[in-house]
Amino acid sequence: MLNRRNTLLGIGGLPLTLGGCGQTQPALGQSPSKRNLLKIPTLLSGEKTAALTEYNLTVQTGTSTFLEGRSTSTMGINQAYLGPTLKMDIGSTVRINVKNTLQEDTTLHWHGFHVPAKYDGTPHQTIAPGKTWTAQFEVRQKPSLFWYHSHAHKQAGPQVYRGLAGPIIVQEPDNTGSGLPIDYGVDDVPLIVQDRLFGKNGEFIYARSMHDIMMGVQGDTLLVNGVVDPVFECKSDLMRLRLLNGSNARIYDFEFETQQSFLMIASDGGPLEEPIKMSKLRLSPGERAELLVDMSHGQPQQLMAAPTSNGMGMMDEGMMGRDMMGRDKMGERWWRGNNGRDGQMSAFNVLLIVPNETLNPSPSVPATLMRHASINPAAAVKTRQFVLQMGMGMGMRAGNGFTINGRSMDMGRIDERVKLNTTELWDVQNASWMPHPFHVHDVQFRILDRNGKPPAAHESGLKDTVLLSPRERVRLLLSFKDYADPDTPYMYHCHILEHEDAGMMGQFVVQS
Ligand code: C2O
Ligand code: CU
Ligand code: CU
Repeated sequence: MLNRRNTLLGIGGLPLTLGGCGQTQPALGQSPSKRNLLKIPTLLSGEKTAALTEYNLTVQTGTSTFLEGRSTSTMGINQAYLGPTLKMDIGSTVRINVKNTLQEDTTLHWHGFHVPAKYDGTPHQTIAPGKTWTAQFEVRQKPSLFWYHSHAHKQAGPQVYRGLAGPIIVQEPDNTGSGLPIDYGVDDVPLIVQDRLFGKNGEFIYARSMHDIMMGVQGDTLLVNGVVDPVFECKSDLMRLRLLNGSNARIYDFEFETQQSFLMIASDGGPLEEPIKMSKLRLSPGERAELLVDMSHGQPQQLMAAPTSNGMGMMDEGMMGRDMMGRDKMGERWWRGNNGRDGQMSAFNVLLIVPNETLNPSPSVPATLMRHASINPAAAVKTRQFVLQMGMGMGMRAGNGFTINGRSMDMGRIDERVKLNTTELWDVQNASWMPHPFHVHDVQFRILDRNGKPPAAHESGLKDTVLLSPRERVRLLLSFKDYADPDTPYMYHCHILEHEDAGMMGQFVVQS
């Protein structure tokens, strides 16, 4: 059953103070009538010495309760599910000790960060059970929402699904916030959006059948910071939502049920040049966005996330069923089975924002947020092509169907060698019938064009993950600076974690 959308009328019984509604979880498969208070991830500011800020993270297993009366075996960082928000100051040096208390190998990767390759937390920095790995680097980011997650070799999908992920907020050391809401958990709230599938016993279902690998593992229940159908009591007239699509595979269109507009102020790696007024925003796995939401009208606002079609255009034509899978209409059956109706999947509830009777005034939103260098393709000294492809039939079964430039990931092969202190143009094409979010480590890139046209305003800033619809082509400008290591690669890959695990990933080194 889907987590069906609630109309605002449906929460008519919501008390004005939300004290009483935090504990009751909706039963699986029932339209939730009681709302759960949003959990705010614990803020971890680290221990500061004169030289650096140190964070201690323990990767662990745990037991969580997402559904009333049912417990779920999970993984987390310093807690049962997900991890704390790491707060990092620009220009500071951070040291992060990661202790693996699992019975299996893991890693933690700092998604979106520009760090030396040996501290990137890829499969080349695997942490064996019982071991501790330490990463140390200077924070050279713009203020934005980043995240950390497992990048374990062929196990990123199941480990992130069970909970190995958490937010990172990078800020100016003085944290004046440049006129934006910065009161963590009050008017500045991270939202980790993840879909999950539960068994009747309350356990997560992570199957990885060929079909799950192909479509990516998707669920019918949305967790936001590990909470089903959450509500948040808002105390100021402007809310800053830091959205992370932390799902394994699902792509969402975020919008308010009332269609109220919002201002997007940051993309993956930093502030946009100026706030952009929008009413709908698509985020694929790995992408982030910061939104400002005007609540001064005093009315509750329900943020929704509508699932988008994963190659449904093709499925509608029956292509996937016959030609790609060699099995009769498998895709279509899957789709119908998942929503019970003809291709119209309902939107998930993300967050109900309920304003207090009195709201603290917020400063007015600055007209300019950050100046970015102009995008100059002439700066590129080299062009590389990347073609994303999903094989079919026997290739898929043989486990080598997910490729970039015709090759599946090989830990022992360096696919590209990039020269330090150069700018390159990466020409990325999606040759498959499904959308793929393409992610590059080490850099924040700029989108030069999408299918030959300049990117939309909200995609014109700093990005580390870009969604390519079937047959789309994007050209990216990337500058490789500061860190060279001819022996330790960074990765580029599809951020549908099942595709990554299945090999839609390559490796590059930066060398001087
Ligand atoms: Cu968010 Cu290589 O990953
Ligand atoms: Cu990454
Ligand atoms: Cu993919």
